Amino acid sequence: MGDGKIRVLGIAGSPRRRGNTETLLDRFLAGAKSVGAEVEKVVVARLRIAGCRACDGCWEDGRCVVQDDFQQLCEQIVDADVVALAAPLYFWNLPAQVKAAIDRSQCQWARKFIVKIPLRPTLSGRPRRRGVFISAGGEAEPYFDGAVRTVKGFFGVYEADYWGELLVGGVDAKGDVLRNPHVLEEAFDLGTRAATWDDTTIGK
Ligand SMILES: Cc1cc2nc3c(=O)[nH]c(=O)nc-3n(C[C@H](O)[C@H](O)[C@H](O)COP(=O)(O)O)c2cc1C
Repeated sequence: MGDGKIRVLGIAGSPRRRGNTETLLDRFLAGAKSVGAEVEKVVVARLRIAGCRACDGCWEDGRCVVQDDFQQLCEQIVDADVVALAAPLYFWNLPAQVKAAIDRSQCQWARKFIVKIPLRPTLSGRPRRRGVFISAGGEAEPYFDGAVRTVKGFFGVYEADYWGELLVGGVDAKGDVLRNPHVLEEAFDLGTRAATWDDTTIGK
């Protein structure tokens, strides 16, 4: 049984620091903090995470055999009640750094469906997580559908529902998003809502 405290993990998935998606993520996390959640941010580009080798080593015990920063990120995701992934569109999908972490999450799939070990609840004791996808693209009306499909799969292996999204087009240069106060407010508001939970699910 967990402590019931809502933990929010923000995954900054752009290799460009303090760019458009990280700015939106910061507003989202500020919103979550404003309603009392414990928030943490991980910058994927600062981690050392190799790609999946398709060695099927995880079919033995559900753990990835490649030892790098993925193991810790994986634990942080499992601990959290809300997982917010913020990453820009790169060729209508996600940057390679964050895609490597997503591909490595195949071990969670093997753990559940091959080794048949159920995913543990969050640190707070909740059986399922909330997933939020924040993205930006330089095109005026970008195609987010490829990235959304990938993120839904990623959230799925961690038993996170695709709970919310904030997809912003027409922002390209670093800082473009700052010229749109409405979208920054939207990010803050999404953070407050994502971290406000109906606690009847704890421990079930
Ligand atoms: C390698 C690369 C690929 C990109 N591919 C796309 C794309 O497919 N569609 C799009 O709308 N924007 C694309 N962009 C633009 C970024 O999505 C845009 O600049 C975004 O605001 C960057 O977010 P960030 O500041 O958080 O890094 C691409 C940028 C780079 C560097």
